[in-house]
Amino acid sequence: MIEPTPASLREVLRSVTDPASGKDLVAAGLVDGIEVRPGPHGVLVQVSLLTDRAHAQAMEPVRQQAEKLLAGQPGVQNAAAVLTAHKAPAAPAAGGHGHAHGRPAAEKPALLQQVRHIVAVASGKGGVGKSTVAVNLAVALARQGLKVGLLDADIYGPSLPRMLGLARKPEVRGDRMIPLDAWGLKAMSIGFLVDEGTAMVWRGPMVMGALEQMMGQVEWGALDIMIVDMPPGTGDAQLTMAQRVTMTGAVIVSTPQDIALLDARRGVKMFEQTRVPVLGLVENMSFFCCPNCGHRTEIFGHGGARAEAAKLGAEFLGEIPLLLDIRTAADAGTPIVASAPDSEGARAYALLAARVWDKVQGGTAKAAGPRIVIS
Ligand SMILES: Nc1ncnc2c1ncn2[C@@H]1O[C@H](COP(=O)(O)OP(=O)(O)OP(=O)(O)O)[C@@H](O)[C@H]1O
Ligand SMILES: [Mg+2]
Repeated sequence: MIEPTPASLREVLRSVTDPASGKDLVAAGLVDGIEVRPGPHGVLVQVSLLTDRAHAQAMEPVRQQAEKLLAGQPGVQNAAAVLTAHKAPAAPAAGGHGHAHGRPAAEKPALLQQVRHIVAVASGKGGVGKSTVAVNLAVALARQGLKVGLLDADIYGPSLPRMLGLARKPEVRGDRMIPLDAWGLKAMSIGFLVDEGTAMVWRGPMVMGALEQMMGQVEWGALDIMIVDMPPGTGDAQLTMAQRVTMTGAVIVSTPQDIALLDARRGVKMFEQTRVPVLGLVENMSFFCCPNCGHRTEIFGHGGARAEAAKLGAEFLGEIPLLLDIRTAADAGTPIVASAPDSEGARAYALLAARVWDKVQGGTAKAAGPRIVIS
């Protein structure tokens, strides 16, 4: 099969009509940029369509039509069309510094515009404690007085229902869902909606659809920060996130063992490929604290993440001890930061939260660029 290219996809857009001029989108000069990237099941397409605020509403069906059309092309895994108010800067000459790298407007996402910072919690391999970090980090940020959202991007293995102790279903108003309130934050997970196991059989495009809905059709409202609990490894969820929202950055969780196995490095690499800044590394299960005597044992030889972070040019954000009460609190659905805020574990997460908030406030704020018109 011949792979779709920006040029071939541009031709496809000639069958969509601009309601204002009556011309096709290409002839009307509305196709501002098309980007094609390889994905696991075909290419990922992003197209930006020029408009102004006055025409944005009329252009919305056109945007949807273009998106559907492109998504239906052979060899296309997923397509996103966004409305943009300005011409994309000639990349990478304009703004080609920092993390922006002259992002073309086509990459400017449409979802979660009211969320100031989106931070993914990720890792190169499974079971390192991402979900536990994500939950406690989110609760700790909320306890600092911030408006916090927590999104479970793990469609195949959602953790939030268990870790937050939530068994109720979100309320639906019209075509929008209201996130659940728990522990001072707003939370959404596919596990609130479908039975455990149902999502296990879904395929890539359905994962993308579910994740997009959890971002686009949920009443998140204005948030200071959204923490995203990522599934392990690299896959559809990572691509969808990178494609549909502007992420402030990623926090990579690793254990001392996986540092040795270079899994953390894989996590960092994945985000570099999708051009999401890596905020830094966290070492989880860093050392063991005996619950009886408080003695600290470095079972896996701790400190590897700090050295690895230095090697990768990423920041070392902190270390979380291996503690029995972190695990029992997580299993009981009462995050330790909320249920035992003065415990050693909670303090470690609070320190991490302060560091992350500090970090997103400084240097790595969302790159300025052409704004998306959303209404
Ligand atoms: N610092 C810690 N001390 C003790 N137990 C921990 C710690 N961090 C995580 N755990 C426990 O380790 C297990 C795995 O953690 P978690 O589910 O957060 O990992 P994960 O990286 O999200 O896994 P997956 O890749 O499957 O999504 C859980 O039982 C959790 O309670
Ligand atoms: Mg998890």
